[in-house]
Amino acid sequence: MALLDQQQEIGADHARRDGPAKVTGTAPYAAEHPLEDPLYCHPVLSTVARGTITTIDSGAAERVEGVVAVLTHENAERLASDEDKELWVLQDAEVGFRGQFVAAVVAESAEAAREAAELVAVAYEQQAHDVVLRTDHEDLYVPEQVNAGFETDTEEGDVAGGLASAAVVVDQTYTTPANHNNPMEPHTTVGLWSSEAKRLTLYDSTQQVHGVRSTIAPLFGLDETQVDVVAPHVGGGFGSKGEPHAHNVLAALVARAVPDRPVKLALTRQMLFSVAGYRTPTVQRLQLGAERDGTLVAIAHDVWEQTSRIKEYAEQSAVPTRSMYASPARRTTHRLVPLDVPVPSWMRAPGENPGMYAGESAMDELAVALGTDPIELRVRNEPDIDPDTGNPFSSRNLVACLRDGAQRFGWAGRDHHPSRKPSSNGYLVGTGVAASTYPVSRMPGTEAAIDVLERGRFCVRVGAADLGTGTWTTLAQVAADALGVPLNHVDVQIGDTALPYATVAGGSSGINSWGTAILEAVRALRDEHGDSLTAGSTATGTAGDAEAASDYAMYAYGAQFVEVAVDPDTGEITVPRVLGVFAAGRIVNPRLARSQFIGGMTMGVSTALWEQSVMDPHTGHFVNHDLAEYHVATHADIPSMEAHWIEEHDPHVNAMGTKGIGEIGIVGTAAAVANAVHNATGIRIRDLPITPDKVLMGGLS
Ligand code: MOS
Repeated sequence: MALLDQQQEIGADHARRDGPAKVTGTAPYAAEHPLEDPLYCHPVLSTVARGTITTIDSGAAERVEGVVAVLTHENAERLASDEDKELWVLQDAEVGFRGQFVAAVVAESAEAAREAAELVAVAYEQQAHDVVLRTDHEDLYVPEQVNAGFETDTEEGDVAGGLASAAVVVDQTYTTPANHNNPMEPHTTVGLWSSEAKRLTLYDSTQQVHGVRSTIAPLFGLDETQVDVVAPHVGGGFGSKGEPHAHNVLAALVARAVPDRPVKLALTRQMLFSVAGYRTPTVQRLQLGAERDGTLVAIAHDVWEQTSRIKEYAEQSAVPTRSMYASPARRTTHRLVPLDVPVPSWMRAPGENPGMYAGESAMDELAVALGTDPIELRVRNEPDIDPDTGNPFSSRNLVACLRDGAQRFGWAGRDHHPSRKPSSNGYLVGTGVAASTYPVSRMPGTEAAIDVLERGRFCVRVGAADLGTGTWTTLAQVAADALGVPLNHVDVQIGDTALPYATVAGGSSGINSWGTAILEAVRALRDEHGDSLTAGSTATGTAGDAEAASDYAMYAYGAQFVEVAVDPDTGEITVPRVLGVFAAGRIVNPRLARSQFIGGMTMGVSTALWEQSVMDPHTGHFVNHDLAEYHVATHADIPSMEAHWIEEHDPHVNAMGTKGIGEIGIVGTAAAVANAVHNATGIRIRDLPITPDKVLMGGLS
């Protein structure tokens, strides 16, 4: 019998296995592991955006009662490599951005550490800084590749000629601001250096325990086998915990400076805004050329973004445009401006989220210019094969998402003409739609082990991470079906480098990668032990490199429908209804999937209307660095949100048929909101977030 012939548990509506522990407070986040006699670390952050530290006086800090150590670049352990300057923590006097770690206090209490950190006197020789993204910047450059290894630029066909001969052209520039991930659990690492055993243990909040280990170990001249990373529960990450950041290094530095006692480093909410990554601001020019019937003849998507001078990060914002719609001529480009700013990094659907905001806004502008239904415009431009690679799609159900969503949302009869559309209560009400895509990704290398326990029970071991997405539960579901046993016969162990190697919980790749490894482990168990499994038997399996071998273009799709109500006097926008339909492969657990889709769309509405990290050009500081001033969508902001999905059976993606669902929900949502605002008011805002002032200035008042 082939694996997964019977799928009883995959697709079943199981509650989270970690739920009871979460609600009773027994699921430890990084700071909460019961450790004896802990110390506390509070970092000191640079107050200039560029310069050199001339003196650091830690005398006053050291005199605070309870202070055990103050680390600076003058006394911190030397690290082995400066290849990654983000991780080159307390190693030299240079300051590359405001909010960089320049010192750290270790004390007997968090309060003492914080008080003493305030007393560390740092003097700088300040240099002029440059923190503003401009497309005409003299240091503008072409990165060698963009995030996730994509080509920087692509061009096919005669784009200029296509645009020149097109019956209708949309040529607009869209801008998006810096955005910061704000997981509920701020980034935290607890370090413990055992001097006798020569082992470093990090209790971390991370999307990949093994990735933290393989980054940290060599920096400290340690073998990977000397480093343990433990993260059984993670309070959100969205990409900001996907790669180790400076705090992981700092936690190890202070732990080794004060051996044999655990040192807890929990960043404050404010610190997240300078050391834990953020979504780069973007400037995106979209050019669409079409015939009168809406057939695209040319697409160009040119992107300008920032990176930190100390480390390159190139968001792949134009990449989704490469495969989204058919057109004989297509161009995408990415340009970077290096600035004296914190290091940008991953934030839910890096590339796809800002890129599809611009692309799907432009498609709506084209629909308006043609006077056509924006759904029909998208359907008309459906490609038969992937325009980028020429490969067939493993499955592509974008049209089904649009059609199903249209029916559920009540799209028929919509007035496509943008205008002031007052409702009975005086608000201007309109609707919008956008399409969504996200690549199906599977990282090679995850290993999983299956142990046969007593009485028909099994244990799955894999170092995967559960960010709150449901990994504890879904991996058990996959294993149960592979083994042909009920869910409650399967235990799961995750989130620890003591377990077999696992790749990152990122790029919506988790279930695809870890689930595949589990299937391979079950296959090996059967091969090695037959069907008569005795307690004590064990087997391991490894997820191979599927994408390299695949002849298919593999993507998830979605369509978001949004209704907005705009206050004609204040310009305030509310979002009474959001509805998304997704085609994202086999859904392992509908309850958990719904929460991923809804979470993604909520973050998309938040992107559209509120989230904006404000950089003060004079200080190089993200000034609204807390949850009072950086507004993340709350329950009150999201009155009604529905997530639906198409039953999709894609045999090519992997044996489970899963595509990954962590990011598809956010992609497209911001464009759907912007398109709805335009439909309601006739005002097109091309600069996120769509705040009331922009709506009023756009001609509402
Ligand atoms: Mo997600 S931004 O790939 O962790």
